[in-house]
Amino acid sequence: MRVFQNVEDLGNLRTALDEAFAIKKDRYQYQELGKNKTALLIFFNNSLRTRLSTQKAAMNLGMNVIVLDVNQGAWKLETERGVVMDGDKSEHLLEAIPVMASYCDVIGVRSFARFESREDDYNEVILNQFIKYSGRPVFFMESATVHPLQAFADLITIEEYKKKDRPKVVMTWAPHPKALPQAVPNSFAQWMNAADVDFVVTHPEGYELDPLFVGDARVEYDQMKAFEGADFVYAKNWSCPGVTRPNDYGKVLEDYHNFLDWTVSDRQMAVTNQAHFMHCLPVRRNMIVTDEVIEAPTSLVIPEAANREISATVVLKRILESL
Ligand code: CP
Repeated sequence: MRVFQNVEDLGNLRTALDEAFAIKKDRYQYQELGKNKTALLIFFNNSLRTRLSTQKAAMNLGMNVIVLDVNQGAWKLETERGVVMDGDKSEHLLEAIPVMASYCDVIGVRSFARFESREDDYNEVILNQFIKYSGRPVFFMESATVHPLQAFADLITIEEYKKKDRPKVVMTWAPHPKALPQAVPNSFAQWMNAADVDFVVTHPEGYELDPLFVGDARVEYDQMKAFEGADFVYAKNWSCPGVTRPNDYGKVLEDYHNFLDWTVSDRQMAVTNQAHFMHCLPVRRNMIVTDEVIEAPTSLVIPEAANREISATVVLKRILESL
């Protein structure tokens, strides 16, 4: 595997899940695979889970790991070609990428949506430069549009906790004071569409996700109706994806105070099938979800985060096997 971006990159999903469960039983069984191989993890944005779980995954496989926080200690990077570099950016990505690649065998990159241009974000202009100019396998650690390591961990968690062959999985928008990217809901939708689940998305009008990711999934604007009989509830905020409202891309469409009834609480959970609550974290309590719901025995936020180590181990293993 040279690029890990979308669900298709893993090939057969059942095989990938079986591999994940085998690795979870013995996560050090491939220690020799990564010997004398180096993973470089590059962060343009903050992280707790992705940083730690991906480092741990690389160590599970016997790899060396280098972590670079671009905004803390590295030169400020220019990302656009043709710019006269007379500002505060001292180095261009076009030199930095091959230099960084010369010190490693595999590159992971986190670079969020910038919300300056929908076209640039949805064309993945940063990650695609790494793919084009590094000469190394590149895996996405959350890009402008996708977060596949998270979605794979989410699917592993659903597989572990489901009580029926085809559970109902509801992804719900929830309020947030800031404009957040669409990477997590995009990937979650893409992966749920590929999995054997009854998938429903619910959000206020204007927050329609890009059809590239949401596909033919059922969209229900009435949150209570969407929650009926749900086995899993996956909460996330996202800003306007610019699908039905192109001029509002990346914006919070209306003051979050007007949407506090979308916060996941016992009121909505009462109409579910004793649903498990899921969120990728970090989460703002009593904004996205109440204390009661996130602390309930049915909440899966901690095992879900723990599975990030497993999804990253499978992905790095697949990449190492292709070197
Ligand atoms: N869920 C997730 O990716 O967490 P971090 O942003 O802390 O890495």
